[in-house]
Amino acid sequence: RPTEMILSEKAGSKQNVGLIKLNRPKALNALCDQLMKELSQTLDEMDKDEKIGAIVITGSERAFAAGADIKEMIPLEYPNTFLGGFLEHWTKVTEVRKPVVAAVNGFALGGGCELALMCDIIYAGDKAQFGQPEINIGTIPGAGGSQRLARVVGKSLTMEMVLTGNRITAQEAKDAGIVSKVFPADQVVNEAIKLGEKIAEQSPLITAMAKEVVNRAYETTLSEGLKVERRMFHSTFATKDRKEGMTAFSEKRTPKWSSK
Ligand code: HXC
Repeated sequence: RPTEMILSEKAGSKQNVGLIKLNRPKALNALCDQLMKELSQTLDEMDKDEKIGAIVITGSERAFAAGADIKEMIPLEYPNTFLGGFLEHWTKVTEVRKPVVAAVNGFALGGGCELALMCDIIYAGDKAQFGQPEINIGTIPGAGGSQRLARVVGKSLTMEMVLTGNRITAQEAKDAGIVSKVFPADQVVNEAIKLGEKIAEQSPLITAMAKEVVNRAYETTLSEGLKVERRMFHSTFATKDRKEGMTAFSEKRTPKWSSK
């Protein structure tokens, strides 16, 4: 099915990076139901596409996304949010097995900030702004803002952002650990694609294991996480790619991955 609110293509010199551009410019990429359905459909397709090794999600230079669609939410009542599973398909972003990089320019507010936080790596343009302004419209974060932010940046900054709606800059987001690198705004997408290309050079099988195990750190206790990590590490020894990687090192050549 064609998508109307997102653009997608394959990027990188080997066309092995899936590039998704949120494209609802008039509403600053407000994340309405249709946009999120199209996003999860496209993520699903890219996750299944063997030629793609990593995915980049971006918006425009003005806005990554200015949040969930406020106008769409006005008529909602509790029973239909509950029974209708409001925001249920947002979780797709966290279920993708391939690494997902957010390339954030401009506003990443409310659900937009939460969407970026669901990604595995965030690169930001120097004019990017992150915020959880839901308090200003009589609601609270609903797609992980209070939880993911608290785990990444701790209580004080999370409270400040969630209780005041104050936005933070790209540099503040980097200092707080939300963002791994900041670039000039016009370079962030290319840098994210380059990062995706580097990730896509690795064994897709081992990459998926690495992603899964890092994500466990956000879901469980340290001792359980360490056990999962150790078992996952052991399980790399059940793969051909582990043997190939170590053999290639000793033979001073580039490994040839088979995802087996
Ligand atoms: C619907 C939105 C929108 C949103 C912007 N627009 N954000 N429409 N939902 N979240 C629309 C505006 O209505 C306007 O359309 C157009 O985009 C341009 O926005 P302006 O406000 O004119 O632009 P500007 O003055 O530059 O201000 C930019 C802004 C502001 C600071 C980003 O738009 C803003 O505060 N937006 C709302 C941010 C927010 O509260 N986000 C959290 C949403 S709640 P028209 O047609 O009027 O020109 C949320 C809940 C998450 O995310 C829960 C889980 C998902």
